[in-house]
Amino acid sequence: VETKVRHEEPLAPRTTMRAGGAARIYAEPAGETDLRALLREARARALDVFLLGRGSNLIVPDEGVDGLVISLAHPAWQAFEPRGDGGIWAGAGVRLKNLCGLAAKAGLGGFEFLDGIPGNLGGALRMNAGAMGAWTFDVVERVRLMTRDGEVREVPRAELHTGYRHCAELRDGGIALGALLRPSAARPAEDIARQLDAYRDKRRESQPREPSAGCIFKNPEGAAAGRLIDECGLKGECVGGAEVSAVHANFIVNRGGATATDIIELARIVRVRVAEKTGVTLEPEVIL
Ligand code: FAD
Ligand code: EPU
Repeated sequence: VETKVRHEEPLAPRTTMRAGGAARIYAEPAGETDLRALLREARARALDVFLLGRGSNLIVPDEGVDGLVISLAHPAWQAFEPRGDGGIWAGAGVRLKNLCGLAAKAGLGGFEFLDGIPGNLGGALRMNAGAMGAWTFDVVERVRLMTRDGEVREVPRAELHTGYRHCAELRDGGIALGALLRPSAARPAEDIARQLDAYRDKRRESQPREPSAGCIFKNPEGAAAGRLIDECGLKGECVGGAEVSAVHANFIVNRGGATATDIIELARIVRVRVAEKTGVTLEPEVIL
């Protein structure tokens, strides 16, 4: 399969929020050489470059993205290679659910916390996605990344600046190509399955099923944004098709037909009301 390039590609279907406009140019490079060529061309044409994973932490603006949107959806980025010493090489395009499933099949535990996060490995590295008390970088040994100049480097975890929902090198232009992962330890398959069931139950009880981008705001130090928003009585608050979820107040859900403008306006209202009532200014987690 060759590198795919399209113009005016609608992005809403490529996001879990199901909202937003089109990419001026959308490309799925077939490997590192083609990715480098795309970056070079974008630079020559002064186009801004954006990475798209599975679009589960994004609000794409209604007017679309005026630039080049790159997705690592091509099979070239789907590698999953257990190394025999407990390490696993995985491509940035691998879905977290598949990563967890394939590892479990190989008798490797430690990825269960990632199972319910609807992103791919690249997006999880960029966000240092986390759940159930664990973080993506807990299981990362090194990241293979490409700079915007097309240079490829493998960077050990200790040299990367990571924190809550954050990896500085990937925020500031680095493109995650893949990572060497090292899960906690070999675990009996039944233990892994039991852990997965428990996590799935917890999510089913506490998070909505409608289209969303996960939590809209980061949790402030020592508090839960969802609890603050809930305590301000904002569950059920709507703008157009966007609604503060009745299940979890830090999720804005698309009840059908929500525009990005609806969602952003609702998030703004939530932020203002919470600040007025509690004095806490919530910081967005989703990328606008
Ligand atoms: P995208 O949303 O496509 O992109 C996110 C950011 O990463 C963007 O800035 C993008 O440019 C950048 N990016 C994507 N790929 C690359 C790459 N290869 N290199 C560099 N940058 C890249 N998050 C959690 O942390 N914990 C949760 O428990 C959780 N639960 C969720 C539940 C639901 C129902 C939903 C909808 C979302 C949830 N999220 C959660 C948010 C989201 O799934 C995570 O942030 C996820 O890691 C995003 O991955 P993605 O592939 O969808 O990235
Ligand atoms: N709460 C309420 N009302 C609500 C929602 C939550 O009172 O409407 C209370 C809960 O009762 C609980 C506390 O707030 O006491 C925390 O809630 P929860 O356990 O659901 O976790 P969270 O802090 O809201 C975080 C992550 C989630 C992740 C879960 C599970 C953030 C911003 N969110 O949620 O990640 O799935 O923990 O580990 O850090 C995401 O980042 O997109 C995301 C979904």
